[in-house]
Amino acid sequence: MKVLVIGGGGREHAMAWKLAQSPKVQMVYVAPGNGGTALDPRLHNLPITDVVQLRQWAQENKIGLTLVGPEGPLAAGVVDEFRQRSLRIFGPTKAAAQLESSKAFSKAFMRRHGIPTAEYATFSDPATAHTYVNQMGVPIVVKADGLAAGKGVVVAMTLEEAHAAIDFMLVDNTLGVAHNEGGARVVIEEFLEGEEASFMVMCDGRNVVPLATSQDHKRLQDGDNGPNTGGMGAYSPAPVVTPQVHARAMREIILPTLKGMEKDGIPYTGFLYAGLMIDREGQVKTLEFNCRMGDPETQPILMRLKTDFLDVLLSATEGTSGGSFESLELEWDRRVALGVVMAAQGYPATPRKGDAMSGLPKESDDAMVFHAGTALVDGQLQTSGGRVLCVTALGDNVRQVQQRVYQSLQGIAFDGMQYRTDIGHRAAKG
Ligand code: AMP
Ligand code: GLY
Repeated sequence: MKVLVIGGGGREHAMAWKLAQSPKVQMVYVAPGNGGTALDPRLHNLPITDVVQLRQWAQENKIGLTLVGPEGPLAAGVVDEFRQRSLRIFGPTKAAAQLESSKAFSKAFMRRHGIPTAEYATFSDPATAHTYVNQMGVPIVVKADGLAAGKGVVVAMTLEEAHAAIDFMLVDNTLGVAHNEGGARVVIEEFLEGEEASFMVMCDGRNVVPLATSQDHKRLQDGDNGPNTGGMGAYSPAPVVTPQVHARAMREIILPTLKGMEKDGIPYTGFLYAGLMIDREGQVKTLEFNCRMGDPETQPILMRLKTDFLDVLLSATEGTSGGSFESLELEWDRRVALGVVMAAQGYPATPRKGDAMSGLPKESDDAMVFHAGTALVDGQLQTSGGRVLCVTALGDNVRQVQQRVYQSLQGIAFDGMQYRTDIGHRAAKG
């Protein structure tokens, strides 16, 4: 079978790499892909990003299955476009993807269906938003309503920061947030304390299968300092997700969400990612929903997946109204997987592109360099985005895998390279 992976980041490189391991897969196309997918002979880059053109290409080239990595094409309706032509694709419809693409939608959804999350209010008028922040005090969290590539959230510790965030999102919109229906809106919510984890499941429209647990490191610098990023590293499993926390997340968040979507007439298919905040008592609240797998969480998670990924996706997309997950059990490598992101100079604000790269280590099934912001230009690898690489490996425990990954990235060089030296620190402590 020929399969198509839509996207060009580290997550999509990992997805394509995993799919290529299936004996049933003849070729994996990655649209648009990156320097790493260009170098792998089992993968083939396709320079198309437009949703209609992708569908046309998939039809003409008899693609048996399409997997969507990022939120952008999902929010643009790629699943609806493919399904209208009876093409097999795994992901949520445009309407279902609102769980991620609109914070106002997902917060109202959670309130309506009793799903635990921070208290909040939604504003489109800056003056009312400023008054609300003055009433509530700090810390407080200000979130832009539309997709903002992980940059639409400000956790304000001072009133000045909160007011600045409101002006920035509602008045200046310097983030270039794609606000829904053109109107700028912000969600302002209660600050939650605790430890975060990434909780991902796969839904076939009727049934749900949880993926291995993971934890991301959102801040740029060691010790969880510095600005928020898309994620500087991740590992799986995440010990903070105890069996009790896992059961609560399924019972209180995932199952009511799928039921609620069905009740609202928007049945959910695809990956569903709940960002969890776990407090000291083990209570679980939803920070956000993503309608896709996480990046970089996917890299360590898929490295642990032992079940044939193509079989999983085929079973998820079997019927017209739902798949056949009833009998599916995913098998995971018992070892720990950990990935460290190497980012470009200036990331996350203004990443520099075009720096030559060298010294990438040899790859194997349990030690990979997943590419994200790289391009192959005249046979030479260059940086082409903020997060450049994610060096990922398996190890018997957290300390061992940390050692392995940090050793293997020693030789990698590009100008202005930045990475954290403490990925996995929360798990290594325990
Ligand atoms: P989000 O995109 O909604 O997950 O927000 C990005 C990051 O901001 C999260 O990973 C948290 O670190 C932080 N954050 C979001 N909402 C809250 C909240 N209500 N309380 C505390 N931190 C938050
Ligand atoms: N790493 C966080 C995310 O993918 O949203």
